Amino acid sequence: MKRPVATEQFELGVCYYPEHWPEAMWADDYRRMVETGFTVVRMGEFAWSVFEPEEGKFQFGLFDRAVDLAHSYGLKVIMGTPTATPPAWLTEQYPEVLNVTYEGVTLQHGMRRHYNYSSPKYRELCAAIVTKLAEHYGNHPGIAGWQIDNELNCEVNEFYSESDHLAFREWLQHKYETLDKLNEAWGTVFWNQTFTRWSQVHLTRPTPSPKQPNPHQALDEKRFISYNTISFAKIQADILRELAPGQWVTTNGLFGHLDSHELNEELLDFFSYDSYPQFSSIYFDPAEENPLRDRGWSLSLSAVRSISSNFCIMEQQSGPGGWVNRMDMPSPKPGQMRLWTYQSIAHGADMLLYFRWRTATMGNEIYWHGLNDYHNQPNRRVKEAAQIGKELAQIGKSIIGSVTQASIAILRDYDNEWDGEYDNWYGPFMWQSNKEWFKALQHKHIPSDVLYMRSSTTLEELSRYEVLVYTHPAIMSDETAALLDQYVQQGGKLVFGCRTGYKDTRGQCYMRPFPGAAQEMTGITVEEFTMVKGTRQPTSISWSHDADILTGADAFNDILHVEADTVEVMGSYASDYYAGKPAVTRNKRGQGEVWYYGAVFNEQAVLQMLPALGLDSPAADWLELPPQVELQIRAGADKSAGSLTFLLNYSEEPAELLLKQPRTDLLSGQTLSGAVTLQGFGVLVLQ
Ligand code: GAL
Repeated sequence: MKRPVATEQFELGVCYYPEHWPEAMWADDYRRMVETGFTVVRMGEFAWSVFEPEEGKFQFGLFDRAVDLAHSYGLKVIMGTPTATPPAWLTEQYPEVLNVTYEGVTLQHGMRRHYNYSSPKYRELCAAIVTKLAEHYGNHPGIAGWQIDNELNCEVNEFYSESDHLAFREWLQHKYETLDKLNEAWGTVFWNQTFTRWSQVHLTRPTPSPKQPNPHQALDEKRFISYNTISFAKIQADILRELAPGQWVTTNGLFGHLDSHELNEELLDFFSYDSYPQFSSIYFDPAEENPLRDRGWSLSLSAVRSISSNFCIMEQQSGPGGWVNRMDMPSPKPGQMRLWTYQSIAHGADMLLYFRWRTATMGNEIYWHGLNDYHNQPNRRVKEAAQIGKELAQIGKSIIGSVTQASIAILRDYDNEWDGEYDNWYGPFMWQSNKEWFKALQHKHIPSDVLYMRSSTTLEELSRYEVLVYTHPAIMSDETAALLDQYVQQGGKLVFGCRTGYKDTRGQCYMRPFPGAAQEMTGITVEEFTMVKGTRQPTSISWSHDADILTGADAFNDILHVEADTVEVMGSYASDYYAGKPAVTRNKRGQGEVWYYGAVFNEQAVLQMLPALGLDSPAADWLELPPQVELQIRAGADKSAGSLTFLLNYSEEPAELLLKQPRTDLLSGQTLSGAVTLQGFGVLVLQ
């Protein structure tokens, strides 16, 4: 039975590092945290050397005092297990715990996450420290729960130490049993890679051309890393479950080469996420039309929600962010931190902690600003946090436990994400297309979910949505295709993009017409296909409902051929030698329909499809919104009890709304109707 994120109140708090500050400051810090409206504080996640200064010599004095004092102020403590930063004595004594790069370079002490998950010694030492911590704090009334490690697979998500090679081999032996089966799955007959002894099998290694390993091996490697990360975390989760049965367990994600759904399902009470919307300013592409910027974080939050419908934001950006020499992010403007807080809440957060209480005066993160500045005097960000604290103390109880509502989901799956990381012929398309779909839905105020296709996914889960969009699932098993087809037969609408269905779960290509496993349900085949780049001129699609509307047929073109008489051509290529050939089709099937879009999606193309898919804003009857305002809805299990509509203005400029029915804004307590101005970065929570 999993514990909920919050039951009594919305839990608001902050990350704190008592070991970084003179003890004389703690009481004042806690007092001001409580004044800010904080109820929860995370600590300990990098403090291994404080807990165990020498191997086997444990001491808890500093954290006992820090936890007890926090408790005396009524703050609940989240204790981090410190395994993301093994101490210097440990790496010196047992260098085999260190991680090694693909090229074979050992990554030394001096940053963090400098370890591998496979070393039996590291696993043993982690088990020892976590056991001691759990024995010591497992019954402490001030400890609410635990965070395992910190950001598993952040910074590094590849591991090539000797222990990793051995563990991979063992995992393969378990998976394939015989070398013959492994040889077949990896297609080793190609380029004479056939293995004749298990000792020849390794994780991918440098080859004559840089980073171009066997693709099937590369896919299995990522599956193994995920498995191995979970098995590493499981050691800690098992100890905590046994020794701290009254406290919850979480960890903060979401990173590569890790099936976070499985991690959460098997080990955690709920998932946590670290939300830094200002990363959008680092990855900003000036060429992108209509960029979502910080609002794009809502797509990541939707992925988090697919893991755990209600979650904790373990770290929420609370200032300008940067390390000494990278990630130089602008400061949040007045109101922006509050906006991002409600963004997290609108998407399902029931607990949220700012990172961090005070900016570090030393180390790599001196520019990763917390709420307080080095000088520790009152500032704008602390004030803004106090406003949020006050608001959530009042309205938090009406929010927690409710879940977001959506009629469309963007489907994803780990196999395609991992295989697509290497395979340029479809991998990058998924991120592009998902973003463009999300953008179009956001601008039309149609809330969406992310849903992961997994071996355990049921028809019931799919059927909650009127529309499913699976942009470029190159890997598709016949079982997955059959499940999706059932969804359609029952009335679901399913949309695919180019490069669908042509690979099996080994990553090998089917000897069938494209779209392979999805051929029957789409009712089309792909006559020809091409990348659209380099010397190829961009192509476009002309839409059947209005031939004058042209949208770009981006990046890749599948030239379609209609096979079934239930298929309607919705759009055709408007240029190149395949002008006039079908580019977008819709197959009526059972009660539902399957769309095939032959290119990589862009917002303009999605906007052409939305009306035909019957999608509209759930608030269309009573609310008119400009595009810069995000709409999200959370409702309790009993929907007749009403729902909460979150409106978030990402623009610095005021937004004009029209409420055709009166609604109460929980934040101000005011009843609003008619023309309403939502201030720049403003938020409304309408009931
Ligand atoms: C997170 C991490 C924190 C801190 C923060 C700012 O990824 O969990 O420990 O490093 O970023 O860099």
